[in-house]
Amino acid sequence: MRRKLVVGNWKMHGSRPANAELLAAILGARPFQGDVAVCVPFPYLAETAATLAGSDVRWGGQDCSAHDQGAYTGEVSAGMLAECGCRYVIVGHSERRAYHAETDALVAAKAQAALAKGVTPIVCVGETLAQREAGETEAVVKRQLSAVIHQLAHCAGEMVVAYEPVWAIGTGRTATPEQAQHVHAVLRAQLHAATGHGDKMRILYGGSVKADNAATLFAQPDIDGGLIGGAALKAADFIAICRAAR
Ligand code: PGA
Repeated sequence: MRRKLVVGNWKMHGSRPANAELLAAILGARPFQGDVAVCVPFPYLAETAATLAGSDVRWGGQDCSAHDQGAYTGEVSAGMLAECGCRYVIVGHSERRAYHAETDALVAAKAQAALAKGVTPIVCVGETLAQREAGETEAVVKRQLSAVIHQLAHCAGEMVVAYEPVWAIGTGRTATPEQAQHVHAVLRAQLHAATGHGDKMRILYGGSVKADNAATLFAQPDIDGGLIGGAALKAADFIAICRAAR
């Protein structure tokens, strides 16, 4: 039985007072039946860690460098995230792929760098609307995932995968539970073929998950929780989504 996982992706949102209020609300709403985490902007990691330490709510980053250290101005290494107590790091989010030209190979290298420091990569895959309409969804997500599986080799079983159709992110347009389930089943079969224990790995759905659609999505057999953007910034909504993960 896979434990559900709900991860808030704050993106480039937040402020110290707003974060304090949001985290206090999340802590106050425990216990949750599944696992819960927040991936916050780097400057807020230390404060988030201090607030959540000792609770079962985890925290993480939204990206990491593929390098260990060096002259890479502006980058943050997986080792630094580990030092900040991060349990997770999102890699290959479609916004990084689109705005920072991240390739499958770079995403795979970042996932490897994270695992090497004991931080679980949440590897995002997903097709654009044009790719979906061209019937390329399966080929695209399989290609994105296979780059990471290939790089991680025997460690591939330790990652979390997030299926986030690009056309559903921040648009209010959610994949139907059937559309999402179909892709999740494809990804699980691929993970299983590669690792032998795809049945134990968590595959999250992301893209306009809200309080009112979370339960139906999470009820699908291969959807193990969600990666939540906009709705993760509103305490009541995020808490409702966390409660839907059972
Ligand atoms: P959204 O974002 O929930 O606002 O659609 C999800 C994500 O980008 O991870």
